[in-house]
Amino acid sequence: MEVVIVPDAKAGGELIAEAMAALVRRKPDALLGVATGSTPLPIYEALAAKVRAGQVDASRARICQLDEYVGLPAGHPESYRAVVLREVVEPLGLSEASFMGPDGSAEDIVGACEAYDRALAEAGGVDLQLLGIGTDGHIGFNEPCSSLASRTRIKTLTEQTRVDNARFFDNDLDQVPHHVITQGIGTILDARHLVLLATGEGKAEAVAQTVEGPLSALVPASALQLHRHATVVVDEAAASKLKLADYFRHTYADKPSWQGL
Ligand code: GLP
Repeated sequence: MEVVIVPDAKAGGELIAEAMAALVRRKPDALLGVATGSTPLPIYEALAAKVRAGQVDASRARICQLDEYVGLPAGHPESYRAVVLREVVEPLGLSEASFMGPDGSAEDIVGACEAYDRALAEAGGVDLQLLGIGTDGHIGFNEPCSSLASRTRIKTLTEQTRVDNARFFDNDLDQVPHHVITQGIGTILDARHLVLLATGEGKAEAVAQTVEGPLSALVPASALQLHRHATVVVDEAAASKLKLADYFRHTYADKPSWQGL
């Protein structure tokens, strides 16, 4: 696992956007897995700026979703489909046709989950999967004790995650869905490159457990330890509980080989 410590969220966003741009230059129709939440927004802003500046032609890139709420009415502004269209697909100048995600309003949720795993495989697999991390160490919506081999499936959110996400629903916990579809941990591990961004002190404990703790279903993000190419980008605050922070600074900070540059 490569751990890259950056000064702040903006620097993390810029670094990862450049890695994504480099991938798209090498492979114009790359399948980019994106995450929701506040953390990755600086990545999307930086990548869209590169597209506008003509530094990368992303017109053939494809975008896929990590997870989705179950039961929100179609077009709900906080459905992850709507969020990804708004924050990623439109700013990159892509059409909805270049985007795929699980159907959280399907009548047959189990079938929709299986269909999404199949669709990802048929699309050739995810080239680079962006991840955020929950305060409880979840990735996607794989809550603690998710199987490390899990595939896309329906999950029940913990109270903590619903409280964390209530800010997107007028701070009204009752509006936050209880159920979600998420790529499983096994599905996530199928991507060719995993890039997790974590910023802020609130993520420091989860980051320390992910990077330095034992591999454990209790901390789903620790499954990144099993991946052959996982990169964790953290700002100073999120790095504040890493015992090996200095080692990581010396080893990875000035060596962007992981970016494929
Ligand atoms: C949600 C998403 C995750 C995201 C997490 C953290 O639970 N399903 O993919 O990583 O929120 O969000 P934030 O970056 O806003 O802290």
